[in-house]
Amino acid sequence: MTQTFKIFRYNPDEDKKPYYKSYQVEVQEGMTILDALNEIKWKQDGGLTFRRSCRHGICGSCAMTINGLNRLACETQIKSLGGRTVEVEPLRHFPVIKDLAVDMEDFYKKYEAIKPYFIAGTPPTDKERYQSIADRKKIDGSYECILCGACTSSCPSYWANPNFLGPAALLKAYRFTFDSREEGLDERLPILNSRYGLWRCHTIFNCTICPKSLNPTWAIGELKKKVVSEKY
Ligand code: FES
Repeated sequence: MTQTFKIFRYNPDEDKKPYYKSYQVEVQEGMTILDALNEIKWKQDGGLTFRRSCRHGICGSCAMTINGLNRLACETQIKSLGGRTVEVEPLRHFPVIKDLAVDMEDFYKKYEAIKPYFIAGTPPTDKERYQSIADRKKIDGSYECILCGACTSSCPSYWANPNFLGPAALLKAYRFTFDSREEGLDERLPILNSRYGLWRCHTIFNCTICPKSLNPTWAIGELKKKVVSEKY
């Protein structure tokens, strides 16, 4: 079957404005959007730029907007899109470097801002910091985030204010805040409670587009309760 792909193109060094270019690809059973992009790049247009690495939904590199929804190109079966023209665009509200590759620098700065690591309050001993199976389960649904940016790019609160930490950074904040081994809440919670933190989330649920089926909206709600209960 021949499938039409309409792909966003923009090279800021050469183009006055973005445009869309159409390509025809012979689609085989089991092909993903990433397979089609590779086919186009390798056989039709070597200038097409996009990110990919693992091809298994692990690295988060290939997040892009496919038929209006943020998804991982390597996990999206072409067949699942129903046969109509497939429109592929870069993640929205992230600056475009070229074509489908966006600038993730600000996204990672926000991730760094929430201190994505354990903050130790007590000195290390010669034993590991034990965690029970029940406590470990409490962070299910947060540690699996692959930082692809799909949620933050789809968040209207982020569109309205790009200073907002955004759902991806806040989901990571949940992962450490609710880990039984964390000892740095006095340091982390004020960051979450700051001007561009938690309270910019208006529970719109767009971030639940997560390709890993995580729910940052729910996690942000739990963090809000935590901040309130800790009297910040
Ligand atoms: S290439 Fe790694 S998530 Fe798609």
